[in-house]
Amino acid sequence: MDTKLLEMTARDLVAAGKGILAADESNGTMSNRLEAVGVSASADTRRAYRTNLFATKGYEDAISGVILFDETIRQKMPDGQPIPLALSSKGVHPGIKVDTGAKELANHSGEKITEGLDGLSDRCQEYFSMGARFAKWRAVITIGDNKPSDACISVNAHALARYASICQEQGLVPIIEPEVLMAGAHNAQTCYDVTARILEATFEECRIQGVHLPGALLKPNMIIAGLSCPNQITREEVAKLTVDCLTKHVPHDLPGIVFLSGGQSDEDATAHLNLMNAMDIVHPWELSYSYGRALLANALKTWASGEHDESQSVFLQRSRMNSLARTGEW
Ligand code: 13P
Repeated sequence: MDTKLLEMTARDLVAAGKGILAADESNGTMSNRLEAVGVSASADTRRAYRTNLFATKGYEDAISGVILFDETIRQKMPDGQPIPLALSSKGVHPGIKVDTGAKELANHSGEKITEGLDGLSDRCQEYFSMGARFAKWRAVITIGDNKPSDACISVNAHALARYASICQEQGLVPIIEPEVLMAGAHNAQTCYDVTARILEATFEECRIQGVHLPGALLKPNMIIAGLSCPNQITREEVAKLTVDCLTKHVPHDLPGIVFLSGGQSDEDATAHLNLMNAMDIVHPWELSYSYGRALLANALKTWASGEHDESQSVFLQRSRMNSLARTGEW
């Protein structure tokens, strides 16, 4: 394992004022999002929308890396340059989603296990040779009656650590993403408790399996009440509870934490990150973003209406706002 390369890449991904763009929607998800804004989905429309984003001038000041899907890493910019090379020539690290999706967990109705470990080492090798320098694997944890089960926590933590070890052996920085979903009527304390459980289990598996934490990043949810909970908490409370939960349950030798937006509004995602970075508490990690929807939802709508330059401006604006939130200056 080349620990120096991994550590350097991980630190680069959370460099001052920068965060990650998650543009790795699977073909199914991206197609649904295109159809929802009236664009017929195909490999070509998915490519056209994404290459327009990647051609945005100046976004590299706020974006350190872009997570791609398998289809996208093999596609080209309009000038014929392979997408991963176009990104790295701007100083943006290409990343790759390597899980193959969350599937039904046997014997546990309504819960998921993320798959994709078979053949992962070979796939990582290929992605590295195409220019990828980091990877993502997303575990999905649902809150509900007697959920998550111990089984769901255990198998997902185990798979996250297996994935992280395999990536590191092939030179890719693993983004470890145990996402506790916002769907449900649970309160913020339940989200806190479940997040604590999955973080503890994941880092215990990482310890057992020898994951090199200085060469990895964590991508967690924030601590938020469920979408249908009547008792929503303030932005200040979200920031405080999130930092508190992470401080108690995330090892300190990890270089950075890059939040997912998970369905929060653009402004909430930026405001929450800003408040965390403005807090007096000294925490050992960089607190940054790896947003999908919070960076792209409006850019997609604008692109779909045919305003391609304006779509780039919208994306750039959201990126800059989150860049400011890295220092609490938003
Ligand atoms: P969202 O920010 O839209 O949650 O996407 C981030 C991501 O990569 C989820 O896996």
